[in-house]
Amino acid sequence: MYRTYTCGELRAEHAGSRVTLAGWVHRVRDLGGLTFIDLRDRYGLTQLYFNPDNAELMERAARLRMEDVIQIVGTVTARPEQMRNTNMSTGDIEVQVETLEVLTRAAVLPFTLEEEDTAHEELRLKYRYLDLRRPGKARYLHLRHRLAQAARRTLDELSFLEVETPILMKSTPEGARDYLVPSRLHHGHFYALPQSPQTYKQLLMVAGFDRYYQIVKCFRDEDLRSDRQPEFTQIDLEMSFAEEKDVQDVAEAVIAACVREAWQQELELPLRRMSWQEAMERYGSDKPDLRFGMEIQDIAELVPGCNFGVLEGALPDGVTRGFVLPGQAEGFSRKKVDALQDYAKHLGGKGVIVVRYTAEGLQSQISKFVGDEWLARLAEHMGASEGDVMILAAGEFRMVCKLLGNMRLRLAGEYGMIDPKRHELLWVTEFPMFEYDEEAQRHVAAHHPFTQPNAEQFAAEVDPGALLSRGYDLVMDGQEIAGGSVRIHDPNMQRKVFSMLGIGDEEAQEKFGFLIDALQYGAPPHAGCAFGFDRLVMIFGGTENIRDVIAFPKTNSAASPMDGAPGGVSATQLAELHISVVPEKE
Ligand code: AMO
Repeated sequence: MYRTYTCGELRAEHAGSRVTLAGWVHRVRDLGGLTFIDLRDRYGLTQLYFNPDNAELMERAARLRMEDVIQIVGTVTARPEQMRNTNMSTGDIEVQVETLEVLTRAAVLPFTLEEEDTAHEELRLKYRYLDLRRPGKARYLHLRHRLAQAARRTLDELSFLEVETPILMKSTPEGARDYLVPSRLHHGHFYALPQSPQTYKQLLMVAGFDRYYQIVKCFRDEDLRSDRQPEFTQIDLEMSFAEEKDVQDVAEAVIAACVREAWQQELELPLRRMSWQEAMERYGSDKPDLRFGMEIQDIAELVPGCNFGVLEGALPDGVTRGFVLPGQAEGFSRKKVDALQDYAKHLGGKGVIVVRYTAEGLQSQISKFVGDEWLARLAEHMGASEGDVMILAAGEFRMVCKLLGNMRLRLAGEYGMIDPKRHELLWVTEFPMFEYDEEAQRHVAAHHPFTQPNAEQFAAEVDPGALLSRGYDLVMDGQEIAGGSVRIHDPNMQRKVFSMLGIGDEEAQEKFGFLIDALQYGAPPHAGCAFGFDRLVMIFGGTENIRDVIAFPKTNSAASPMDGAPGGVSATQLAELHISVVPEKE
C-alpha cells in the first residue's frame, strides 16, 4: 500500500500511530542540523521530521530535491505547544520518519512553485501540470467540480435528464466561426464542432424528453479575450411547455445552489428583471454592473438653445446623455481628460464632454459655448455637487450607450468604486430580435435565429429593427453568465424569421431542413438557456482570467503551448482527408 493517510488528514488524536505517507517534497528546511520536510499532496501538507541520530536517513533526506515523489513510514507525534501551526490543517502534529523511499526523482523545475505568479504565463501554460500543483491554482478546479455537482444535483432534483449530444455535427450559427473537421469518408465534406447544442436540445424536446440538460463543451472560433476561450463549457438546458419564467426559475435554482456551495449564503429570489431598453438607457450596457451607481441620465431637456452644436445637432434623432463621477474633480487632470478622449475614439466614438465641478466653479472645454449658467443648470439637473465630474456624450443612441457605458465601468474600476465582496444578479429581458450588421448590410439574430419574436409585434409586422425578442440574459457583476430564449415551435414562423435574416427558403431548407421538418411533427412549445460555466466559476473563484478555471486552457491565439496544438499533420493524413494546404502568401 502506498499510503495509509493523505497529507491533509493527520490530527493530534493520531499521535503515536505508525503511518505511511506518499507525496511531493514541497519544502526542505534545515534548522541547525534538524531536517524538516513538508510533504504535499492534493489534500494538504504534513511536516516530516528526520531524527539526526539516524545518520544514513539524514543523509538521504539531505539529497532530496524539491518535487521528488517520496514515500515514508513514520510515527505521528504531537508538536510541542509553541510549534503548532494553526494555519495548517495538520499543524498540530509532525511525523518522525523511520524509512524513506524515493518513488520518482524530479528534474530541476522550469519555475519555482511559490504561490505568486513570477513566471511568464506562456511558460506556466507549457508546464500547466506543474502550475496546477500549486494549491492556489488547483483550488479553481476544486471549485469548478463542486459547482458542477451543485448544478447537477439541482437539475436532477428538478427532473432534468442529462443527454449527450454529438460533437461532430452540421454547422449551426451562433454568431461565431465554426471549427471544422474534414470528413475522410465524404470527400469535400466537413463536420462542424458545436458552437452550442442548440438544435439538438430543441430536437430532444420534439422527441418528448420534456427537460434536458448537459454540461457540455462548445467550440467557437472567435477573437479571444480574458473571458473567452475557443472551447468552453456550458450548463445547457431546455424545457417543454415552458415560458420565460419557467426557465428563469430553474436557472435561479441553479445559481442559488452555486451560491450556497461556494459562499454558504442564501440568494434572495426571484432575481430582479430589467428590460434591454432600460439597461441600455441607465447603464449603457446590455450586461449592466449594478455593484455601483453612476447611472446614466438624459439631458435632452437642457439642450435646445444651449449654443453648443455637438449637443444640439444630436437631437432629435439621437440622444444627449451623461453620468456623474462623484468626488474626483480635483485630481481630474488634463491628462485624464485626454485619456478619456482617446478611449472614446478607441470605442469608435468622436469624444466626450467633461465638466468638472471644482471649488473655483464649473470647468469644461465647452464653457465658452454654453456659459456658466447653463453648466450650473446641468449640474443641478444631474444632481452633481462640488467635487464631482460630469461626463456627457451626444449622438446615435447605441454609440452614446457604448461610450458612456464603457466610461462608467472604466472610471468605477480606476477609482476603486466596485466592492469586490458585493455581487449583483439580474435578468435582462426583451432584447431586440435583430441587430444590423453594417459589414454584411443585413440583419443578424441578436440571440440566435430560433428565438421567438414578440408575438404582437410579429403579427403586426413591425419594422425588423424595432422587433423585440423573447430572449433573456442572466447578468452577474456586469458579466453575461447565461443566455436563453423562448423558441420558435411553429415551422412557418421559423421560415419567416429565416427570411427576415436574409436566409431564403432554399438555403433554410439546406441548412436547417432537419429542424424545420421536426417542427412539423408536433413540437411542444419550449424554451431554455445555457450558462457559461467557465464564467460562473471565474466569478465564484474571484478571478478575471478564464484560463485559471480551465484545466488545460488555450492562449489568446487559441494555441496550447503544452502539447503544441494546433500542429501540422502528415501528407498521408491530408491526402486521406482530401485536403491540400495552400501555402501562406509572402
Ligand atoms: P450564448 O451564445 O449566449 O447562448 O452562450 C451562453 C453562455 O456561454 C458563455 N460563452 C462563453 N464562455 C467562454 N468563452 C466563450 N467563447 C463563450 N461564448 C459564450 C456566455 C454565454 O452567456 N444556445 C444558446 C443558449 C440558449 O439559447 O439556450 C447559446 O449558446 O456566458
